[in-house]
Order: sequence, then structure tokens, then C-alpha cells
Amino acid sequence: MPDRLKITDERTGLQYEAPIKDETIRAIDLRQIKTGEKDFGLLSYDPAFLNTASCRSAITYIDGDAGILRYRGFAIDELAERCSFLEVAWLLLNGELPTEQELTVWQSQVKRHTMLHETTKKFLEGFRYDAHPMGMLISTVAALSTVYPEARNIFDAKNRHLQIARLVAKMPTICAYCYRHHFGLPYIYPDNELSFTGNFMNMMWKMFEPKYVANPILERALDVLFILHADHEQNCSTNIMRGVGSAQTDPYLCVAAAASALAGALHGGANEEVLRMLEEIGTKDRIPSYIEAVKSGKYKLMGFGHRVYKNYDPRARIIKRTADQVFTVTGENHKIEIARELERIALEDDYFVQRKLYPNVDFYSGIIYEAMGFRPDLFTVLFAIPRVVGWLAQWEEMLLDPEQKIARPRQVYTGYGLRDIVPMHRRGKDADSPGQRDPQVAV
Ligand code: SDX
Repeated sequence: MPDRLKITDERTGLQYEAPIKDETIRAIDLRQIKTGEKDFGLLSYDPAFLNTASCRSAITYIDGDAGILRYRGFAIDELAERCSFLEVAWLLLNGELPTEQELTVWQSQVKRHTMLHETTKKFLEGFRYDAHPMGMLISTVAALSTVYPEARNIFDAKNRHLQIARLVAKMPTICAYCYRHHFGLPYIYPDNELSFTGNFMNMMWKMFEPKYVANPILERALDVLFILHADHEQNCSTNIMRGVGSAQTDPYLCVAAAASALAGALHGGANEEVLRMLEEIGTKDRIPSYIEAVKSGKYKLMGFGHRVYKNYDPRARIIKRTADQVFTVTGENHKIEIARELERIALEDDYFVQRKLYPNVDFYSGIIYEAMGFRPDLFTVLFAIPRVVGWLAQWEEMLLDPEQKIARPRQVYTGYGLRDIVPMHRRGKDADSPGQRDPQVAV
């Protein structure tokens, strides 16, 4: 079967061909379709990129209908079951699971970079005690580009990998320092005898004990949550990471941009919004009226729905199981009961079934984080800590992709045609003044 598309332009009767590769046609192949010599040629119009592949990537594979998620070919539930977060971070960044030797070297490299430059701590002091941690994280990561100006040498592989290790290592430190700043607590320096996740918990919660000891069930649960959030192919924040990176910006500023996208309520900010929603519902008997309000369009059911998954988000299933393990330590809070009942009712309701709306990664994660003792305003930072690995893996893949160049989409212009400036004394007074003409006039 020939892998090509035959196109007939009914405007001219002319026929064209566009090769089909990987179930796609190249949008640039539409340009040949013209009505005459002066015609620029056809563009594809795809607001929010509902049906546009922006890149070729070997990092993460999602089958939204089947509810499949794989990192570099490994199934997410296998990775969550059998690997540590740093193992998976190495996999995403390098394409293979690390050998024992590689993992040892990687762990020590990350541990060596967990500290923040003392000036960065003074930078954090500038924030109000109640500043949202995502604003603090984004600003602080951007400020790190001033601490490591050599990071702009993005085509020097050794330098690039050093900045990647620094970012992976410092995100937990920044998160912990944001938390400590809120309560006016002294910052806790990293303890390199602990695991990546154990050290994060140490920097968050160590008080006067000589040595912080993390609860192993909670430490493992958090490590699994980090694995589940590490990458997710071309989501909104990764698209921003690639877009800003395509201008050859340094990785700290790219990560700050990507984290800004993640902060949005429809993206990484949803886990915090889920908790607010469960608090607003309050009791199980109020679920039916809340569901009706969602169906009337008054609210979105936060933590439900996904652009790609039209089946259960495989991460949500694993998080739900992880929640049960966490609750053996922390005890169940009533929100989990509301969440389970909300899910049960929604999955039986035609509005959600017809729209293929299922729980996504954010639906249960917030409940676990809160049970562990994290404040809701930290939840999106907890998403950013592991997602920095995915952002950086995708950024490096983009940099090394010979097909990629600076991202610069086209547009469909809907504004005014050429018009003359109306002298000030006549503006708003006569027929020619601004806004009087129909902007749909051809340019
Ligand atoms: C993440 O892309 C990724 O991979 C993201 C992520 C990652 O790992 O990076 O998976 C992480 O961001 C998960 C999503 C977290 N966000 C939320 O939980 C917020 C609530 N969800 C929605 O806002 C929505 O589902 C999105 C943003 C996630 C997806 O939106 P789409 O793909 O643009 O779908 P849509 O808005 O066009 O919805 C299609 C229909 C609409 O109804 P109709 O106009 O056809 O009548 O479904 C409805 C929507 O109104 N709908 C919802 C809904 N989500 C979609 N209705 C109620 N509640 C919802 N949550």
C-alpha cells in the first residue's frame, strides 16, 4: 500500500501528493497547494495542537485509548514496582537503565549538587512568608542561571550534563527551603548518607533530632510518586521547555518557563485544586449536587480528564494503590472516602462516560501528599521535582535533533487591513475613527 496522500484541490482541480511517514504527513507539504503563483500555499491550522506532532521523540510512549505509559519502552507499573526514582531519571536522560556502577556514580553526582549557593538562600529570604512556593521555585530556578552562567554553553555535552545533574539535585532543596521559609524554620542542609527522597524528607522535616530517619513506607511511596511524575511526552510544560530551549536559552531559564506552565490549574496545579474541590464538597452526601454543577458547566471535576488518556490514567491506578500503603502509616483522612465515592459516581455518569473522562494523575496524588504532611501549596512543586528530569531529557533530545530549529508557528490573521492614522482631534468623532471599520476587511 503506497504511503502517500493524494490531495485534489477543488479550487483548481490540481492534484498533489504528500508522503505518509509514521502516520503523519509533513505540514510543510501542504505549502505546494496554491491557487496561483502569488499564493503563499496552504497552512495547517491547529489551535492548542490537538492534532499536531511537534517532534520525533524516543523518550516516552503513551497509548491514550489503551491507558499505556512507557518510559524508554519500560511499562510504568514495572518501573514503579522495581526501580528507584534516580534509576528512572538515569533511564529517561540516557535511554537505558543504569548498571550498578553507573547508578553509584549518578547517585554520588546528584548528592554532590544538592546544596544551594548561599546567595540563593538570601534570594529566598526576599519572599513573603506566605508566598506561593511555585512562584518561589520558578524565580529561584531562573536565578540559578546567574549563579551558573556557563550553563549557556548548551552544546558542550559535559557542561550540559553538569547543569542537568545540578537541576535534578537542587529542585528538592529549593522545595524544602520554600517550606521552611514559610514557617520561619532554619534550613536543613542535605544529608548525603540518605537516599534522594529520604534526603528531601530530611530537608523538609528534620527538627532537633541528631539524624533524620524517614519512615521507609512513606519514603518509598514518595519515590514511586516521583517516578510516576517524571515524564509524560509532549504535555503543556514539556512543550514550553522545548519551545524556550529551541531559542538556545540556558536550561535554568527553560526549566523556569516549563515550571510556569506546570503551575496552571489545568496542568500541574490540578493536584492542589483537587484537594480544594474535596474540601468544598465536604461530605459524601454533597457529591451528587456537585456532580450536577460540574455537568452544568459551573466547575470542572479537577483531577478528571486528559487530552491523551481516553481511558484510566495508568498512573492514577498506581497512585491509588500507593495511597493505601501510605494510609497504613498516616491513617486515612475523610477526603479519600469522598474521592473514592466521587470517582465511583462519575464513572457511572453518562456525562463523564461519553466524554471519556477518567481520574488522571492528579486525582489521588494530592490526598497522599496531604496525608504525608505536605501543605497543598507545595503539591505542584512536588510535581516539578521529578518532572524536571523529563523536561531536561526532552530538552536535550530537542537540542540534538537535526530537524529542530527555533520554534516559530504561523497564524491566521483576522485583523484590520491597511488603514491610515486618524488625527487625534478626529478620533472617535468621524466614520474613520478606530473601531468604526469592520476588521474582517481583507488585508
Ligand atoms: C496533567 O498533557 C499531559 O500529559 C498532562 C499531565 C502530565 O503528566 O504532564 O498528564 C498532567 O496536567 C493532568 C491533567 C490535570 N488537569 C486537571 O485535572 C484539570 C481538569 N481537567 C480538564 O481541565 C481537562 O480534562 C484537561 C485540561 C486535562 C484536558 O482538556 P482537553 O483535552 O482540552 O479536553 P476539553 O477541555 O476539550 O474537554 C472535552 C470535553 C469538554 O466538554 P464539551 O465542551 O465537549 O461539552 O470534556 C469536558 C469539557 O468541558 N471536560 C470536563 C473535564 N475535562 C474535560 N468536564 C468536567 N470536568 C473535567 N475535568
